[in-house]
Amino acid sequence: MNRRIKSCCSQLLHKACCCFLIMVCFLFLGSGCHSSNAPAVKTVRIGLAMYSQNDTFISAVVQEMEQLAREKESVSDLKINLNLADGQSNQTVQLEQIDRFLDSGCDVLCVNIVDRTAAAVLIDKAASRDIPVIFFNRQPVQEDLQRWEKVYYVGPKGEESGIYQGEIILEAWRKDQPDIDKNGDGTIQYVMLEGEPGHQDAMLRSEYAIKPLLKANILLEKLDSDTANWSRSQAAAKMKQWCEMFGEKIEVVIANNDDMALGAIDAMKEAGIAPLPAVVGVDATEPAIEALRKKELLGTVQNAPEMPGVLLELALRLSDPESSLEKMQIEEGHYIWLPYYKITRETLIQQEIEGF
Ligand code: GAL
Ligand code: CA
Repeated sequence: MNRRIKSCCSQLLHKACCCFLIMVCFLFLGSGCHSSNAPAVKTVRIGLAMYSQNDTFISAVVQEMEQLAREKESVSDLKINLNLADGQSNQTVQLEQIDRFLDSGCDVLCVNIVDRTAAAVLIDKAASRDIPVIFFNRQPVQEDLQRWEKVYYVGPKGEESGIYQGEIILEAWRKDQPDIDKNGDGTIQYVMLEGEPGHQDAMLRSEYAIKPLLKANILLEKLDSDTANWSRSQAAAKMKQWCEMFGEKIEVVIANNDDMALGAIDAMKEAGIAPLPAVVGVDATEPAIEALRKKELLGTVQNAPEMPGVLLELALRLSDPESSLEKMQIEEGHYIWLPYYKITRETLIQQEIEGF
């Protein structure tokens, strides 16, 4: 009897085991089928190093890149890991961040370098791991870019923005000279707020902004110029001094970027200067467009609005061995030049009419 129960039990156990094994096989096969049908997700790891997260224009560029990356993910099989690092305006800090990106195995680097004369070390580090580098907005010197073939620069040509600023002032002068020439002496008395010393955009904008006026034989008197490091508060402090020194004599304020133009407007309003002189900036940031609508700013220049899209596109192509760079319009093997756009109240109205 006992033996019969035992053998019956062992038969049942055997059957149960068989059933279990069959079920496991089905589950395994089922899941195998499922995974072979699912789209293969490829992860691209982009290390993005900013010179400073506090910079209004740079943080807008990076935000747009993040947005575009999410859009790209939603229409492709890609997972885009955009890892950000804030260099805090310190090249040593930024180099450590680059080391970390390289150690963690990123596919491509996008670098807004702190010190544009110090790109060689960074390029050599990336080249030793065969990780392509895309510099943007802060342009390394040419010899450094030529150190390795997988190094690129994406950005606009600074001189173009300076010329557009000069043209905006010239157009306003031609349209209504007394409006600009407050003291009626036929000369433009101006002050210039410069960006960070050594930055290609600061140097080129300062040099080129007056060229269209000189070319049109307009007399210019530079009251003063100084750096305010792209900063609204530094520009306001500088402008406060100039208001005390020159007061109503200032007819035009040329600022290398919008934050400084807005800082100058803050200080002039504070000093009770009315009407405000003609103020021009660069970047077309949201607060600057607001100031343009309020007629506090005469004009600005949109700073390479295509940059976030081009950076992302190039980064994705460089991290895909099957992709080609043919359509990327790379000049001299390393440069992708992007346009600036002149923005005045007239162009804004025009854009609104055209439904932008
Ligand atoms: C310039 C821009 C400035 C600042 C700077 C940072 O092109 O006009 O506002 O963002 O780049 O490198
Ligand atoms: Ca004058």
